[in-house]
Amino acid sequence: MVGAVVLGALLLAAGCRGPDNGQNSLKPEGPAAKTIDNLFVPVFLISVFVGVFVLAGVVWVALRYRQRPGINENPKQTHGSTPLEIGWTIVPALILLVVAVFTIRTIFDLAREPKGDVLQVTSVGKQWWWQFNYPDEKVVTANELVIPTNTKVRVKLTACDDSLPGECNVIHSFWVPELAGKQDVIPGREQATTLEADEPGTYLGQCAEYCGLSHANMRFRVIAVTPDEFDQWIADQQEEAAVPLQSGPEDAPEPAGPAQELVLDKYQCTNCHSFDDPAVSSYGPNLAHLGSRTTFASGYFELTREKLIEWLLDAPSLVPMESGDCRKPGAPAVGKCVGMPSFTEDGPGPVMTREDAEQIADYLLDLK
Ligand code: CUA
Repeated sequence: MVGAVVLGALLLAAGCRGPDNGQNSLKPEGPAAKTIDNLFVPVFLISVFVGVFVLAGVVWVALRYRQRPGINENPKQTHGSTPLEIGWTIVPALILLVVAVFTIRTIFDLAREPKGDVLQVTSVGKQWWWQFNYPDEKVVTANELVIPTNTKVRVKLTACDDSLPGECNVIHSFWVPELAGKQDVIPGREQATTLEADEPGTYLGQCAEYCGLSHANMRFRVIAVTPDEFDQWIADQQEEAAVPLQSGPEDAPEPAGPAQELVLDKYQCTNCHSFDDPAVSSYGPNLAHLGSRTTFASGYFELTREKLIEWLLDAPSLVPMESGDCRKPGAPAVGKCVGMPSFTEDGPGPVMTREDAEQIADYLLDLK
């Protein structure tokens, strides 16, 4: 019986390790995560010690004073022991005091606004993706937060996009387990967190507060590169789109090509997305440099031509969204329509042919 329980517990614990999933808070890769780890590990060890001590005591008492053949009397009864009672009040209080001092110190350490050479970023939680603004560099991107290594990055967290009036979203939570702790993103409140990566690499992030249908798909990644690579990345992002959306005279611009015509006129993708200005917020992700990203759809899919075509045709079939259902005739008008609509017969928009989707995908992938 005991063997079976131990075996079961071991098998269960084995699931905690597994392959490196990129979201292991026990594998800190930056100062903030290390600060948290330095608190977590000792507190965890203290808890294990207390837990084992108490459980062992319970088992010892149960075995020592169990009913046995021939012994049919209660053990000696003790009522009130001043030294014992003082002891078991003071010892736990002291343990909790030590834990509290270190915990509070860590909380203040982590909340302190960093000084010196700090990169400022604003992260806006949307349903269901993340927008990253670099206000000083005038760059807006989505779902991939590129940062330089060994640099403090102050991430302002908001659910309200200041540049889009009335665009306040629901509560999200910003979490990159290997770089920093969780921080809620709350409409009407200004929160912030500090990220820093010691080594170049990709660190996986995840929305950690239930925020609707695609909460589980609301991922993102932090891509840490060397400072030189970062400067190059910023310079590339500041460029205008590689392929223009429109051309012609300023007062009467025309779509610059057949794909641009689809985007502008036929499917009106520009209602939600920006394709040419890398410095502005939009209701959907800014796509001016989509081709330079490794993933799309909130980091949920690798950016490949085939997946992008599938997405353009019928995004709600790939990731649950509230865009299709709420605009269907006869559907109850509940909530707000969010996410990419479907361009199949069931969708609210015009039906998209595969040729059109291929043409748009090729245009998007050229937006490096
Ligand atoms: Cu956003 Cu959960």
